[in-house]
This record gives sequence, C-alpha cells and structure tokens, in this order.
Amino acid sequence: MNLASLDRAEVASEIARRDGADPLGHLRARFHLPAGAIYLAGNSLGPAPVAAFSDMAVAMREEWAEGLVRSWNDAGWFALVNTLGNRLGRLIGAAPGQTVVCDSVSVNVYKALHAALALRPDRNVIVAEGGSFPTDLYVAEGVAAGRPDLVLKLEGVDAPRIEDLIDERTAVVLVNHVDYKTGELRDMAALNRLIHAKGAVAVWDLCHSAGVVPVDLDGAGADLAIGCTYKYLNCGPGAPAFIYAAARHHDALSQPLSGWWGHAAPFAFERGYRPAGGIQRLLCGTQPILSMRVVDAGLAAIEDVEMSALRAKSLALTDLFMELIEPVCRAHGATIVTPRAHAARGSQVSITFDNGYAAVQALIARGVIGDFRAPDMMRFGFAPAYLGYADVERAAQAFNDVMTSGIWRDERFAKRRAVT
Ligand SMILES: Cc1ncc(COP(=O)(O)O)c(C=O)c1O
Repeated sequence: MNLASLDRAEVASEIARRDGADPLGHLRARFHLPAGAIYLAGNSLGPAPVAAFSDMAVAMREEWAEGLVRSWNDAGWFALVNTLGNRLGRLIGAAPGQTVVCDSVSVNVYKALHAALALRPDRNVIVAEGGSFPTDLYVAEGVAAGRPDLVLKLEGVDAPRIEDLIDERTAVVLVNHVDYKTGELRDMAALNRLIHAKGAVAVWDLCHSAGVVPVDLDGAGADLAIGCTYKYLNCGPGAPAFIYAAARHHDALSQPLSGWWGHAAPFAFERGYRPAGGIQRLLCGTQPILSMRVVDAGLAAIEDVEMSALRAKSLALTDLFMELIEPVCRAHGATIVTPRAHAARGSQVSITFDNGYAAVQALIARGVIGDFRAPDMMRFGFAPAYLGYADVERAAQAFNDVMTSGIWRDERFAKRRAVT
C-alpha cells in the first residue's frame, strides 16, 4: 500500500495494523531498550538481551566465584568456542564443525587471509573493496607487508567492479556481504562462482548480515568467512567474533597465530606446535569467557525464529522508512544511497547529506539514535527483532522535522565527539 495517498489518521491506522499483524512482535520483550528511545544503531551495537542480565549473574557468582577453575569443564567454558560457534553457524548456513566464536573481527581477518593465501601458494594477489570497512584493508595491508611479492588490488581504485579484478593471479577475494556505509548487499553465490572459476578463494565479511540477512555459506560455496556478534546478533560491546572455514579446506588450513588453543593436544603441553584437526586450528588462545556468556543470550534471543521471517520484516521496515523520508530528502539536498531493490539491500538505510553529522546529533537529541560515517553518511539500522512499524514512522517523522526545520544548524549539534 502506498502511504503517500493517505491522510495522517489513515497512516496511523495502517501502521497500527502492520504492528498488530507482526509475527515477530513478541521478540521485542527479549531486549532492554531505553525508555523513549528509537534505536536505529543496531547495525553498530545491538541492545542488551534481557536474558544476559541473569546469565551474567550466574556466570559471575556460580561459574566464576563458586566454580572457579572447575568451570572450564563443569560450566562448559572450554567448549564455548564450539558450542556457540555451531549455534551461530545455523544462522549463517554453516553445518556444525565449521564455525568457532573467538577473537575479534580484525584478528580473524588476519587468520582468514593467511589461511586463504596458504591454500593458493602459487598466487600473489589479494582483491578487496576500496570502500571496505577500513580494518579489513588495514589488516590486508599488514599481511601484504609480510610478503614482498603480494599485491593488494582494490575495487574502486584498480577497477570499478570487483569482478573485473579477479584473474588467475588472484589468491583471495576479501569481500563484504553488506557494505557498512551504503547497506548494499552482494550476491554471495554468484560472486563465489566467479571467484572459483578463476581458481581463487573467497573470504566473506558478514558483520552487516549475520543475524539479519539470510546467509547460506555452505549452499553458496563460501570458503572462509568472518564476522562480529555485537551488531545484529546483540552480543555486547566488543563481544567475541566468529570465523568459518568450509570443511573441504580443513586439512589444508594453516594460520600464523599458532597458539595453544589451536594445538592438537592443548593439555599435553608439548614443546612444539602441532595443529589441531578441523576448525579448531583457527583458534589461538584463551577467550574472554564473560563476554562469551553474553553471546549465549544474544543468539538465544533470535535463534528460534526463521531468518526468512526476520528478513521479510527487515525489508518492510526499510521500505517504509524510505517511503516516508524520500520526499523530504529530495527537497533538502539529502540522497538515499541504499539500493531500493530488495535483492541488493541489507538492513540499513544510508543517506548522504553535507551536514549529516549535525542532523544525526539533532535526531539523537530527539531520541532517534542513528550514527554517522565520514564524510557525509547518515546510517540508520533497522533490526526486525526489536523494532516495529510505529517506531519507523516516529523515526521518519523526527527525520523529516529535523530536515525541514533546519534545527541541525544549532551549534550544539556541530561538535564532533571521538566516536561518531
Ligand atoms: C564490516 C566490518 N568489519 C570489521 C569491523 C570491526 O572489526 P573489529 O570488531 O575487529 O573492530 C566492523 C565494525 O563495525 C565492520 O563493520
């Protein structure tokens, strides 16, 4: 239904109808959301799952304070990398035994790039996106610095399209499933086909798709993947990341962070490194167990619903937001850069506007929390697990008011803080 043809009361009743018919409406109670806020920054840091409060009390009092060192076995701490990895794997289309929860995204990019390069020792090109999240590129640069023959080729720098950079010299293609700035979604299966036809290995960054966009790593033939758990998986600030490697590569996997958790017999305390079999060899050392315990609650909050239902609602929310703000954007020099086509969109709406930083600050002052990425990108993430249609309508109204009133010009919204 096109809302532009309706008056305000009719829009309100249509929005209420959509919320009333929402099969995922019950999920919202699983999250703590600050009163009065409309949270559109879940693509940066998801909100706290309510279960995490009691889980953390158990982890602190029973498992750590009482259980002490016994909890490595009794509370399953040592196995969390795998138990959580297998559960997370279900959300990204990975059969068990191919995903571990560990370390940070940046560290996992490092391991994944080395592992991919080792699978193609006779090739010397890493292909990535010039517009990638910078840590991926910085880590790729670091990897290249350690091997003088390695060359980094970037989409948008060396050729307009990543597809045009992949040839028989390409060892690995490091690529984002959803672009962190624009929200554009890539066709994973199609790109994997091209990468494999050229004999290269694909490493996917799933930071902006895990938990909100259907991902089928096994079905799409992905080789390696990494991603974070603190965005749409709602596992907490700095929560441990994950890394996936397809089972067909396990025997040949190697990575340079050869710590004891990746050893074949960590409690044999042998002097020399012998890699474990399977996905285990992508581990390095001891994990932050209290943070891992929040991953449990984050996964539990969404793993009993179908990803297709989350996706359908996510698309409906982003469609609605774009429909409601588009005329105002056009009138005030702002541009929606997120693709309209469902097949090409993640779960965020990104808008370029010269004064985007100030506009986002003005929105935050009104309780609509989005974020900003330099130089001019306003980002609004729409998490279907805890947002409803009325939230989107209120957020769009606030957006339209901020843009038409010009309130963002107020000098209190101009001051830049460290984190934007
Ligand atoms: C696509 C992408 N990769 C990596 C990261 C961050 O990596 P790390 O968790 O190591 O800071 C982000 C953070 O927002 C991201 O969006």
